[in-house]
Amino acid sequence: MATQQPATRPANPRFSSGPCAKPPTFELSKLADAALGRSHRAAVGKAKLKDAIEGTREILGIPADYKIGIVPASDTGAVEMALWSLLGERKVEMLAWESFGSGWVTDVVKQLKIDAEVKTADYGQIVDLASINFANDVVFTWNGTTAGVRVPNGDWIADDRDGLTICDATSAAFAMDLPWDKLDVTTFSWQKVLGGEAAHGIIVLSPRAVARLESYTPAWPLPKIFRMTKGGKLIEGIFTGATINTPSMLAVEDYLFALDWARSVGGLEGLIARADANAKAVFDFCDANDWIANLAEDDATRSNTSVCLKFTDPRIQDGATFAKAVAKRLEAENIALDIGAYRDAPAGLRIWCGGTVETADVEAMLPWLAWAFEAEIEAQA
Ligand SMILES: Cc1ncc(COP(=O)(O)O)c(C=O)c1O
Repeated sequence: MATQQPATRPANPRFSSGPCAKPPTFELSKLADAALGRSHRAAVGKAKLKDAIEGTREILGIPADYKIGIVPASDTGAVEMALWSLLGERKVEMLAWESFGSGWVTDVVKQLKIDAEVKTADYGQIVDLASINFANDVVFTWNGTTAGVRVPNGDWIADDRDGLTICDATSAAFAMDLPWDKLDVTTFSWQKVLGGEAAHGIIVLSPRAVARLESYTPAWPLPKIFRMTKGGKLIEGIFTGATINTPSMLAVEDYLFALDWARSVGGLEGLIARADANAKAVFDFCDANDWIANLAEDDATRSNTSVCLKFTDPRIQDGATFAKAVAKRLEAENIALDIGAYRDAPAGLRIWCGGTVETADVEAMLPWLAWAFEAEIEAQA
């Protein structure tokens, strides 16, 4: 006989790892002030783009001498713009422990054909961070969204490095402390931790990254949407709101709303606390149930945003079919949407725990996960 369904349901079943849940106070009507049907180069548009840049600086504590740009094609656009514009000046170390990091390896090794040392680890593990040579440029992902494994902090990054660090921080920014003095290029997309709309990415450049851009010209051609310099000088306008091409002013308004919401929960500190509380609820659940475990093997590398889980019950016959069936049950009950593991990741579940998710919803969802697990064990038998 199937176990009984829990009495409480999450108010919001959205636990997708991107696009992520919108801030709890979101309503479409709150975007009514968007500069729609106007040129993004008109004063109103430019002012909103500048607000988005400076709001990002304020909440993330980005130093005044770092440049922040809104760029096309989301985080992918921002990362690829950095790889194509900056790499090739020296050897590169590529660090990858899940799908997105592996994608940047493909870009650098197969497309750009750069001399690279590739360091990889399996899902659940992380590369040996003590082995990195910072005379090289180093490309890495702060939080591997598809493995739920993050770097524990930035202590492993040399202060006196000669190379640049290029960090894909898309599922980390607004949920984890990013040490700006250790990061020369940082990228993220709006669709992640703040629950913004897709389309645009942010690129953050340290003074050393700007110096590289102004002193080095890659051997390959650069499409217009990757070009950050003109005549050997940084195009300053990109970093004050004069975007390379046309942005969505609706997405900009939505991001401004999300930044305001972030302020209302205590800024970065509040956002981190919310993600930590959500992730802790899931970690505690794993500790209390011997049939499920965190994919991250070392607790110090457990993500507080994209928490990845694996089923460990020996009765499970086919791991991938089982995990999909559990996710399907939860979706059918409107308890948890989009929580299947990423397509390239090991079978399991992935629960988004970023700050736009309410802890009460995570806590209400977890007993349902136990229910779906039991139901599926019975169905399988
Ligand atoms: C670590 C990481 N990098 C890159 C991406 C790609 O982001 P986007 O689709 O915003 O370009 C994602 C999306 O999930 C991600 O998690």
